[in-house]
Amino acid sequence: MRIAVAGTGYVGLVTGTCLAEMGQTVVCFDVEKGKIAALQQGRSPIYEPGLEELMRKNMEAGRLSFTADEKEAYREADVVFLAVGTPEKEDGSADLTYIEEAVRAVAKHMEKDVVIVTKSTVPVGTNERMRAMMERWKPPFLRTSVISNPEFLREGSAIHDWFYGDRIVIGASEADKEAAELLSRLYEPLGIPIVRTDLASAEMIKYASNAFLATKISFINEIANICEKVGATIDDVAYGIGLDKRIGPHFLQAGIGYGGSCFPKDTKALVQIAGNVQHQFELLEAVIQVNNHQQALLVEKAKQYMSLRGKNVALLGLAFKPNTDDVREAASLVIAHRLLAEGAHVVAYDPVATDNAKKHLPSTVQYASAVTEAICDADAAFIATEWDAIKQIPLSVFREKMRTPIIFDGRNCYSLEEAKQANVTYVSVGRAAVVAEGCEVKKGKY
Ligand code: UGA
Repeated sequence: MRIAVAGTGYVGLVTGTCLAEMGQTVVCFDVEKGKIAALQQGRSPIYEPGLEELMRKNMEAGRLSFTADEKEAYREADVVFLAVGTPEKEDGSADLTYIEEAVRAVAKHMEKDVVIVTKSTVPVGTNERMRAMMERWKPPFLRTSVISNPEFLREGSAIHDWFYGDRIVIGASEADKEAAELLSRLYEPLGIPIVRTDLASAEMIKYASNAFLATKISFINEIANICEKVGATIDDVAYGIGLDKRIGPHFLQAGIGYGGSCFPKDTKALVQIAGNVQHQFELLEAVIQVNNHQQALLVEKAKQYMSLRGKNVALLGLAFKPNTDDVREAASLVIAHRLLAEGAHVVAYDPVATDNAKKHLPSTVQYASAVTEAICDADAAFIATEWDAIKQIPLSVFREKMRTPIIFDGRNCYSLEEAKQANVTYVSVGRAAVVAEGCEVKKGKY
């Protein structure tokens, strides 16, 4: 089989590389010529552990190639995976321009029957519309099928998730059953359970999954906020509820809210999808609102302990989560803007996401190349991402390096015991604050 992948973003690149690793011959297409030139030299435009090595291995084996020529990509393809972006429009709905362009290009260049597999997250009903577009635009003597095959990869562990995912969803209309069979056979060697559905259900599984996970996060964050006020400890509460198999232990890590390119965008899109059919998705609206509040809460809390005006503040972690250089919708950006608005002087550190963060932050933010450099002479430190490079630094080092060792930890990287032993002031999420001996902070309610 000859496989083409449209779009070399995080989903397309991982999909193309992993399909090649499974023995398929794959060509990845992107309109961005600079990106393709870098990829052709074996350089990944995104930081994803293990991806560049796997890319190079499969390029050397002759199974993986990259092109900016759409004709070359689609002409002889049996299957085209669509992994182009579906960015958020101002009203929260998904922008389908790139999807339409890709469908049009496949229809224009195809020289044999082709199966289109939609990996991009698209609103319910889109794949059906794509079928109609293909029918209209394709050469009359050739056949096309459109399959919905949403992705469930997490940034930072995408390669692992491809090979060891929980399920593979394949949605197809009755007319495209054969194509769905073909795709099932392609995935079979992975040994992952395959869920076969109609198109709309497959599209809905993607949105419902992300919406549910986002709901879990907002839920545990609300519980954490209440814990702080009633004297309970979120770690124990999350562990205690997570042991119930019906609840499960995952996605109960309280913190500064979810970020990234998926949850914020997909939750808003689902509210919009529901609204289009006159259904007000009140629960999900609340999830989004709670998250917005949570991203800003740490600075509000800090203000209860100290004035931030004129203070040197270290901001540790900029990526929306560890093991990625992605800062899209990252809580760190919200925190940075709020700190600046309060008049603080911000020195930020991230092991890999600094360049991306610079595009979103004012030039007044300074950047350090190590945690120890960022916290040197700082009046306060904010932890926004639980990178190993950050949480491996003992709190005693904060005590030594900072002017005043006051730490606002949005990711609960340290135990309260460690904080007490290191004699630092440590304010985390859903747990009692530890105040260092002799530390003059104003304590109060927020
Ligand atoms: C998410 C889903 O987990 C993937 O299954 C899905 O394929 C992907 O979106 C997508 O739609 O493409 P991702 O955004 O890479 O993956 O990252 P997650 O690990 O899900 O984390 C999202 C955010 O939630 C991060 O900001 C993380 O810090 C936060 N989070 C996660 C918490 O605050 N608490 C938790 O317990 C878990």
